[in-house]
Amino acid sequence: MNIILLGPPGAGKGTQAKMLVDQYQIPQISTGDILRAAVKEGTQLGKEAKSYMDKGELVPDSVVIGIVEERIKEPDCAKGYMLDGFPRTVPQAEALDGMLQNLSSMIDHVVSIEVGKEELVKRLTGRRTCRECGAGYHVMFDPPKTEDVCDKCGGELYQRDDDNVETVTSRLEVYEAQTLPLIGYYKTQGKVRPIDGVGDIKDIFGRITQVLS
Ligand code: AP5
Ligand code: MG
Ligand code: ZN
Repeated sequence: MNIILLGPPGAGKGTQAKMLVDQYQIPQISTGDILRAAVKEGTQLGKEAKSYMDKGELVPDSVVIGIVEERIKEPDCAKGYMLDGFPRTVPQAEALDGMLQNLSSMIDHVVSIEVGKEELVKRLTGRRTCRECGAGYHVMFDPPKTEDVCDKCGGELYQRDDDNVETVTSRLEVYEAQTLPLIGYYKTQGKVRPIDGVGDIKDIFGRITQVLS
């Protein structure tokens, strides 16, 4: 099963993807996570990506398309995968369709997680992530048992560089202008599964697994 998780910054794509990995035993492919790892390692890709990410802008299509093209050919993707944060522009979606056609494969579901703007800003500015295992938290909505310490591995929690109010505002604008048109793109293909993304994290997980089954 090949799935796209679509939704604005803060919709819960990463949160739900981590739970779906356990449920379906297919990997999560987050272009944001891959780019952040490159930034951390200080690679050429990371240096190029950082300037865009800090401004809340999209990294050029050619760069992320190349990353995904490599990644989906890895053996762990043979039984399916979840794309989190890709595609994000119509050219990316077209490129994905092209590469899947070459692999005689296709996307089965586009899970579109819907959350209003005010809630998104609250979620993003309060998000914390584990430096060691990548687990996600929220200072109010999903706090760790001990402040700034990961429940799962004891690692240190940090705040993403792009989770400040200014960058969040531009990320939300970029989403509306460049990513929202993908809903129409995938509606034409009959693949959009709209999910109400507001409420308890486990309830939302239930809504997603229901439409996938
Ligand atoms: P990326 O890392 O993909 O960030 P994003 O799309 O902005 O999405 P987020 O990761 O911020 O949100 P999420 O939906 O995963 O929310 P989460 O589950 O963490 O991209 C970052 C940057 O990389 C981009 O700006 C761009 O520069 C670049 N990039 C990446 N992909 C690219 C591409 N394809 N093309 C070009 N550039 C690309 O949840 C958020 C918070 O809310 C957490 O604290 C969580 O605990 C909390 N939460 C989750 N669910 C709930 C709930 N139900 N109720 C209350 N709180 C909740
Ligand atoms: Mg994410
Ligand atoms: Zn951890």
